Amino acid sequence: MPLLEVNHLTQRFGGLQALTDFNMKIEEHDLVGLIGPNGAGKTTVFNLVSGFYTPSEGSITFAGEATRGLKPHAVTSLGMARTFQNIRLWNDLSVLDNIRLAQTHWLGYGFLNAVLRTKKYFAAEKRIEEKSRDILEMMDLSQYAGECPKNLPYGLQRRVELARALSTNPKLLLLDEPAAGLNSADIDGLIRYIRWIHDEFKISIWMIEHQMKVVMSLCQRLTVIDFGRTIAVGTPDEIKANHDVIKAYLGDDNL
Ligand SMILES: Nc1ncnc2c1ncn2[C@@H]1O[C@H](COP(=O)(O)OP(=O)(O)O)[C@@H](O)[C@H]1O
Ligand SMILES: [Mg+2]
Repeated sequence: MPLLEVNHLTQRFGGLQALTDFNMKIEEHDLVGLIGPNGAGKTTVFNLVSGFYTPSEGSITFAGEATRGLKPHAVTSLGMARTFQNIRLWNDLSVLDNIRLAQTHWLGYGFLNAVLRTKKYFAAEKRIEEKSRDILEMMDLSQYAGECPKNLPYGLQRRVELARALSTNPKLLLLDEPAAGLNSADIDGLIRYIRWIHDEFKISIWMIEHQMKVVMSLCQRLTVIDFGRTIAVGTPDEIKANHDVIKAYLGDDNL
């Protein structure tokens, strides 16, 4: 059984059909990409898969469960984490607290335990703090643990977001334009971090990205959508040579 299977996903926003009959399978340890011009419906796919929206039509199975209609935190607990096209960190909390809270908040570490301040609560808090520090260490972010994200350069904020997503133990990581706003040195760094995460944690990664260098060097397989419809699926080389894809991007500065 694939880790993620999406069948006939369609999404309407009022009169606008943002996505039409979208299908996808992701296996364990895949590293795949979703590309397409602006407004094609890419973020909508992630919003549907991660529970931010409930699809107008279609089914989603993740880790053996039908997840259509589940709330985002429930999908996170099943093992799916995501980052956002526009960074969404808690800007007035420290980097460490951002990572800690992701685990308590999204994985629902017993609210009642927290209120009652039970032994179990303190044990969980301690475990979470240790794990958060480990993740910061692995992502070369330890020295920023006490800083607020808003005071960090953009490239580091992106890395904190990646660390936060990783801290929830995902089986599948969704990255929505992780290279957006990064300079070329930061992009090279990002490529290395993503490759390292994929190898080290043996997880599946599905990324949306406009920077062709990133998807072409990392992804085993790409899906291309345009106006909400899938126009091509293939390896990076196949996609680069595909006429429908070239046509869809014509006039777009990204190719
Ligand atoms: N919550 C929403 N309400 C109304 N329209 C939306 C909403 N989210 C996305 N759309 C529309 O759906 C289309 C696809 O958007 P999106 O998935 O963000 O595209 P992409 O990520 O490929 O740039 C766009 O026309 C966008 O305006
Ligand atoms: Mg988008």
